[in-house]
Amino acid sequence: MVSGLLGVSLLFITVFTADGFLYARVQHCRFYSSELQDIEYIDSYYYNKLEFIRFNSSAGTFAGFTDLGIKNAHRWNRNRSILDAEMGDVQRFCRNNVKVWFSSVLSSPVRPTVRLHSAPAPSANQPSMLVCSAYSFYPQQITLSWFRDGQKVTTGITSTDQLADGDWYYQAHSNLEYMPRAGEKISCVVEHASLREPLVADWDPAMPGSEKGLIAIGACGLILGLVVPLCGILYYRWQLRGWDLVSTD
Ligand SMILES: *[C@@H]1O[C@H](CO)[C@@H](O)[C@H](O)[C@H]1NC(C)=O
Ligand SMILES: *[C@@H]1O[C@H](CO)[C@@H](O)[C@H](O)[C@H]1NC(C)=O
Repeated sequence: MVSGLLGVSLLFITVFTADGFLYARVQHCRFYSSELQDIEYIDSYYYNKLEFIRFNSSAGTFAGFTDLGIKNAHRWNRNRSILDAEMGDVQRFCRNNVKVWFSSVLSSPVRPTVRLHSAPAPSANQPSMLVCSAYSFYPQQITLSWFRDGQKVTTGITSTDQLADGDWYYQAHSNLEYMPRAGEKISCVVEHASLREPLVADWDPAMPGSEKGLIAIGACGLILGLVVPLCGILYYRWQLRGWDLVSTD
């Protein structure tokens, strides 16, 4: 009994010192349109980070990637009830769930969060940049454009594609070459399915967004820096007064 318990403890220590082992099964439903027939169901088995066997509903069979995986893929592919169960998961697991996703999530657009900031020039002889970023929007299609004094800017712009965040949302960025000129007004205009009207972000050259935060933190620091010594002086004087009362008698 005692040795059995010890065995378990030793096992735990081994697991921890070896940073652990992980056996995992990951089921994916891949779909590229709202046509539910197009769904591909992938059922993968991993040991640590190595995928060793995978069921693919398009192929309708298992494939192995290590000796162990190849051996078992061969066994499972000959067993009708295993293959039927996997194909059944295309309906049970994928199509049923994706129907819910489409009706409740993917059909409702999500507004982008828009941020405008300046970025230093990439090198000394290049102009600095204004960067307009749209974050966490859905669906993917978005337009970012620049206006200077009400005129659409067509040159000096580089934009990224919409980048998938990996959680249904997207982000996109647009850079404008920027030479500050007095009195000009620069705006980034965002058009997206979630917005009734285009969203306009105006550039405020006096206060770039991130520096506003820094100034606020600096101001708090300054005020604290003044208040704390002041309290110290008042306390010191109050103490002194207390001391004076006793000593002047
Ligand atoms: C699944 O199998 C199909 C057809 O063999 C192939 O085109 C597709 O790339 C496979 N998918 C994955 C994720 O392995
Ligand atoms: C097929 O797999 C099922 C589930 O693992 C098992 O119960 C059954 O005995 C297997 N059939 C054959 C012929 O190996």
